[in-house]
Amino acid sequence: MTVAHAAELIRTARSGLALTGAGVSAESGIPTFRGEGGLWTQYDPIKVASIEYFLADPSAYWKVSKDRGRVALAARPNGGHYALAALETSGRLVAVVTQNTDGLHQDSSTRNVIELHGSGRHVQCLDCGNREARSEVQARLDVEMPPRCRLCGGGFLKPTVVLFGEPLPKAAIQQALTLARQADVMLVVGSSLVVYPAADIPAVAVRSGAQLIVINAEPTPFDELAAVVVRGKSGEVLPEIVALIDG
Ligand code: OAD
Repeated sequence: MTVAHAAELIRTARSGLALTGAGVSAESGIPTFRGEGGLWTQYDPIKVASIEYFLADPSAYWKVSKDRGRVALAARPNGGHYALAALETSGRLVAVVTQNTDGLHQDSSTRNVIELHGSGRHVQCLDCGNREARSEVQARLDVEMPPRCRLCGGGFLKPTVVLFGEPLPKAAIQQALTLARQADVMLVVGSSLVVYPAADIPAVAVRSGAQLIVINAEPTPFDELAAVVVRGKSGEVLPEIVALIDG
């Protein structure tokens, strides 16, 4: 039984680390990027999610971001987020590293969340650096496109997320790689594992001796390296694992 095997590995973990991707929030109603119904099946990521295109045409970015932001702000954690929080509380996970910007790990009370791609909960003025809550800006997108800074009166606002062509927050990737080197169990949930440097994290963990567990709806390029692959929905599989551990 693959789920039982995964539960046994996690039960005995002392320095377990999780890496999550868009799939963990799919059951909260936020569409993934790749795969069925994914955002990148509708849009070219370089055109709507690169810093180069953002600077050339902020409205084009914001028109796509408006819908996704509305959905993400209304979303609530699902059983997968809560199960990861429970694994942290019981000492099996030291942190959850995420490529997601939706804040749902924090909402499910995970304490040590490392956001590799920033946070969608805030925006920042590209001129004066002032930060505002995304929810404030979301409320005025119907009348202001693209939104501009209210403090300096003119700068373009950009969500505090990492766009293609931008560097990852240095402290976040360094902390994640350090924890990956120390991990005895590396749990990857809901990520296609095709975007780097995020996908370096399980690679480093495996090279450093961690047992890799992949929980994903579809195959990933890392499945061959894994001690256990569980094909399924994280909102179902993760609570099942916690229930087996709590036994
Ligand atoms: P992807 O959209 O690339 O992959 C999501 C994965 O989750 C897919 O392999 C799905 O099969 C799987 N999946 C879908 N629903 C699931 C469920 N309920 N349970 C488990 N798995 C499920 O998302 P990421 O790997 O997070 O970056 O993408 C990485 C980065 O690419 C994102 O952070 C974003 C994107 O372009 C930037 O925008 C910089």
